[in-house]
Amino acid sequence: MEKKFKRTLVTTALPYANGPVHIGHLAGVYVPADIYTRYLRLKGEDVIMIGGSDEHGVPITLKAKAEGITPQDVVDRYHNIIKKSFEEFGISFDIYSRTSSAIHHRTASDFFRKLYDKGVFIEKTSEQYYDEEAHQFLADRYITGTCPHCKNERAYGDQCEACGTSLNATDLINPKSAISGSTPVLRETKHWYLPLDKYEAFLRQWILEGHKEWKPNVYGQCKSWLDMGLQPRAVSRDLDWGVPVPVEGADGKVLYVWFDAPIGYISNTKELLPDTWEKYWKDEDTKLVHFIGKDNIVFHCIVFPAMLKAEGSYILPENVPANEFLNLEGDKISTSRNWAVWLHEYLEEFPGKQDVLRYVLTANAPETKDNDFTWKDFQARNNNELVAILGNFVNRAMVLTHKYFEGKVPACGEMTEYDLKTLEDFKNVKAEMESFIESYRFREALKEAMNLARIGNKYLADTEPWKLAKTDMRRVATILNVSLQIAANLAIAFEPFLPFSACKLRGMLSMPQCDWNSLGCTTILAEGLQLGKAELLFEKIEDATIEAQIQKLLDTKKANELKNYTPNPAKTNISFEDFTKMDIRIGKILEADRVPKTSKLMKLKVDTGIDQRIVVSGIAEHYTPEEVIGRQVSILVNLEPRKLKGIESQGMILMAENADGKLVFVQPSIEVKNGAEVR
Ligand code: 2FM
Ligand code: ZN
Repeated sequence: MEKKFKRTLVTTALPYANGPVHIGHLAGVYVPADIYTRYLRLKGEDVIMIGGSDEHGVPITLKAKAEGITPQDVVDRYHNIIKKSFEEFGISFDIYSRTSSAIHHRTASDFFRKLYDKGVFIEKTSEQYYDEEAHQFLADRYITGTCPHCKNERAYGDQCEACGTSLNATDLINPKSAISGSTPVLRETKHWYLPLDKYEAFLRQWILEGHKEWKPNVYGQCKSWLDMGLQPRAVSRDLDWGVPVPVEGADGKVLYVWFDAPIGYISNTKELLPDTWEKYWKDEDTKLVHFIGKDNIVFHCIVFPAMLKAEGSYILPENVPANEFLNLEGDKISTSRNWAVWLHEYLEEFPGKQDVLRYVLTANAPETKDNDFTWKDFQARNNNELVAILGNFVNRAMVLTHKYFEGKVPACGEMTEYDLKTLEDFKNVKAEMESFIESYRFREALKEAMNLARIGNKYLADTEPWKLAKTDMRRVATILNVSLQIAANLAIAFEPFLPFSACKLRGMLSMPQCDWNSLGCTTILAEGLQLGKAELLFEKIEDATIEAQIQKLLDTKKANELKNYTPNPAKTNISFEDFTKMDIRIGKILEADRVPKTSKLMKLKVDTGIDQRIVVSGIAEHYTPEEVIGRQVSILVNLEPRKLKGIESQGMILMAENADGKLVFVQPSIEVKNGAEVR
């Protein structure tokens, strides 16, 4: 039998405050957590949702260094941007705090100290790479070098991305610090390790036996970690940004960011409920649920539970419904490559359309596998689902009620069999949505809600009340009463998913209260109730808007290609004499024709100042003949003539190849005489 809990504690992964948040964050963690929490609140259950920024870790210190500001400046900036984005998207945190707060430092410090006093940690001295120029120890990720397996010269200290082997920094050949570029040296340093191996048996039992109901992606990842065998993990780092290690002789050492971050959930609950927080963390009647992305599974299912178990007084998570990743237009979302739809930009570019994104991200959520966000799908779901189904149905029911009944809910007369069948169709919506939401299948739950709108749309289309208005107003009244009751159901069913639109709909339907338990009921709106004005819930998104977004991404791609361009290494030196052997002139293209049966070649007639001659050039994929006629170009005139496709080419046009592979002409910056020498 499933356990009945008295309350629910929902936590959401704390995003790093070293950049803004994007659609991947929203789809993977915050929208699902918000749906779940809003649903429980709507049912009148005791639930709190905890969030906050993760403000420690090496990347934040490096960003600060690069910008010449303090780490606190960095996290202040992004914490505020992130917090605002979440607020505007209606992510209904009970608290959104941060790990640089005093209460978190105290909580994390005390937690470490308790484990330390219980003798949980292993203290170990080891040799680690140290950057003598940057004066700091280097995290594995910040050491690059040659992979001993595949000889890739850009392997990281923890992994070679070319051959996929996981590495130790000391395996790298010719290691270099990614911070200063210098060669790091090995130095001794002492750290505290959490002996995960000692918790392996407990974790195996608890997860593999006790939580078979976890999502297959989560269970599978845990099983594979456990089957590989757990090793002690260092929980401290040599760094000057973070929670100081609270023991003697630990100067210059802080808690590892992954040790303190999950404790942030506890700190933030304490900040929210200073007197009653323990009820949420230490009472077996609390259901603890961690919403995270798949890259966080090991920390939430293995490391944090081991920490909680070691501490001894905390409950463990009941479920960790981690999502897979959301890609963008076929590519992995990446902050460093700016390949993302940033929430703060979306809010500016699509004002008032928070629910559209919430809808698309839920309908296409990466619940069981990685999924792709495309702007075309975004447009299609808005236009064909939100506008054409949900918005259209509600609008027709409202407008007709205003037209025929002065905006008052008309009386329901005798029902036909078709009416009864329609009502029957959505009788089960509550039970079905509940079962989906409670098993973290939000896409399916959303589909159920949308089906309800489909039922309404079909009902109006089939009964055509506008045709009956002249002959049978009593029938029209019944049809509109049924339709408005369906609309009221939609206001409840969509509340967890589309809170802004559901609120607007409730306003239109004069429904101040919204109670989940009324879902499925066919008498929510009383006869004679005066409705509000009919307003559109959604509007069509035009092609031009979508094309602008796609263009923005194409521009990003281009900018990345330019940024990542690595020129070929320099060739060996030649003498000045060798150079002067080349006779390069400025000439003008007089005629141009594609060479038949080739895609690349163009036959050019060039005025070199010396003569007019034919040159065959490989530019046909980049230019049309019309584009090149009349251009001044650089031409190597004393190149031995050679035949290309039967045409003798007398010379070579000089081209530069851009990062994206496009060939561009090497031209004089002002018009010069044909025949001018290039020296
Ligand atoms: O992966 C991340 O973005 C981490 N900052 C998540 C931390 S979750 C929790 F432990 F705080
Ligand atoms: Zn390799």
